[in-house]
Amino acid sequence: MLLLKSILFVLLLVLPNAVPAELDWWQNAVFYQIYPRSFKDSNNDGTGDLRGIIQKLDHLVDTGVTALWLSPIYSSPQVDFGYDISDFRDVDPLFGNMSDFLELLAKAKGKGLRVILDFVPNHSSDKHEWFEKSENSVPGYEDYYVWKDGDPSVPPNSWTSYFHGPAWTWSTKRNQWYFHQFASAQPDLNYRNPKVVQEMKDVLTYWLDLGVDGFRVDIITALFEDVNYPDGPLDQSAYRSDQPETYDMVYQWRILLDEYQKKNGGDTRVMMTESYADADKLFGYYGNATHNGAHFSFNFWFITQLNKDSTATDIKGVIDKWFNNMPERYTANWVLGNHDQSRVASRYGTGRVDGLSMIEMILPGVAVTYNGEEIGMENGKVTWSEGWDPQGCNGNEEDWEKNSRDFQRTPYQWDATVNAGFNEGHKTWLPVSDKYTTLNLALQHTKNLKSHYRIYQELVKLRQTETLKFGKLRTFALPNNVLVIIRELENNPTYVVVVNVGDKFASVDLKSVASQFVVQIPSVQSSKIPKSIIDGSTIYLVGFEAVVLVSV
Ligand code: GLC
Repeated sequence: MLLLKSILFVLLLVLPNAVPAELDWWQNAVFYQIYPRSFKDSNNDGTGDLRGIIQKLDHLVDTGVTALWLSPIYSSPQVDFGYDISDFRDVDPLFGNMSDFLELLAKAKGKGLRVILDFVPNHSSDKHEWFEKSENSVPGYEDYYVWKDGDPSVPPNSWTSYFHGPAWTWSTKRNQWYFHQFASAQPDLNYRNPKVVQEMKDVLTYWLDLGVDGFRVDIITALFEDVNYPDGPLDQSAYRSDQPETYDMVYQWRILLDEYQKKNGGDTRVMMTESYADADKLFGYYGNATHNGAHFSFNFWFITQLNKDSTATDIKGVIDKWFNNMPERYTANWVLGNHDQSRVASRYGTGRVDGLSMIEMILPGVAVTYNGEEIGMENGKVTWSEGWDPQGCNGNEEDWEKNSRDFQRTPYQWDATVNAGFNEGHKTWLPVSDKYTTLNLALQHTKNLKSHYRIYQELVKLRQTETLKFGKLRTFALPNNVLVIIRELENNPTYVVVVNVGDKFASVDLKSVASQFVVQIPSVQSSKIPKSIIDGSTIYLVGFEAVVLVSV
């Protein structure tokens, strides 16, 4: 036995190109975010629901994504559309009920899809039983939230809510102020109270017991504030974001997830955290020298650091910055859009949709897609009077276009039938985009038609290749505004993404990578023929054209 072991060991050492260790299921996964209100309305009441998602599970299978992440489905007065939760353990009747959820979970798993829930730890709804008890000073609940004494006309400090106005509301019941980073209907929970910490850990365990595969943790940055709630200086974020105790709580949740797996078996339960932070703050959510944290903390840099005017150099800069800062033991991730951000097509321009999908999908690590981005949905038109989002509605009408997040939340465009196939014709909670007759999934699904969707699907498939799973990365920004991303792995084909970031005709010479390439996936504006061979020294690109090439 010992001899056999030694031979195996030596063999492993000398095998020239031993296959790298397999990745854990989530490490090259595509997570698909579903915004339940806007995905599919099965009962024709104007709002999407769980049974609608069940009806559309085959779409997810067809895309090839690994997992779906549901934005909150819990009981909620819907002030912030589910991010104001009145019961962390139940489903809102608007979306269905617990048995619908369990059916969705079972059916998704039956189809090979993993299911991730949104965990919203920073705040509850003011209609949550805990808040009602706390506001009435019911013994044991007094410190579930952040309460401060003071003059009813002067908030305890100058901090403002992310949804406009002061971050404090006076409670006439308790004659005290309570703190809320978001709407006044979203009071912040007090994590300096060990009971709250335990309650929220129990919430995690509750959903794990039902069989979910992990959590997306909402606005993790905001969990703790400086204990003194100091007034002033202008940059409040130093006092209310990314506090040391916040990182520690993430490490505690990771221990909970890992121990849960140890005890109950099964695959890794993942945690992904929402943090719009730069490198100095972000990687702490992944872990530190002694603790593991989130499996990955969202990389929003494509959103926060790039836009329509960004050049190939800018994009290369963001990619390189990520890898220069991320400790090697961690897994990268790329997020291009979500329910809080303008649609990719609207933010970077419709011409860049495929190029951006290619960049996101060829880069090492996890990719996160917001529903609708796979068909290149654009921001919908929503007027001030049709809007709902507190971030827009609590501000001024003049700032509506800038503040509201309703535009990226309009119903999914399934087909060209009434209300884009979202429902059977009932007025939808937000208007269906008027583009739906020409921009919809059914159309993009047409056989042999080149479409954003077909390209997305091909890209997701490509991620299963050894090269894309394990290959090395090289990036180049050429002087003519062309971005080149290379993934290469010994004894495997080399994949190259070439993106003309600008609108001008450009040519590139890639003969140092390979003398000839096969065209693997051309963007919609490309006239290159899939599977055709092109010479590495002369690759021509029209404006915004992008292409995935594979070395011959
Ligand atoms: C997160 C959510 C956003 C929500 C906020 C408050 O940023 O993505 O939609 O409004 O947290 O929960």
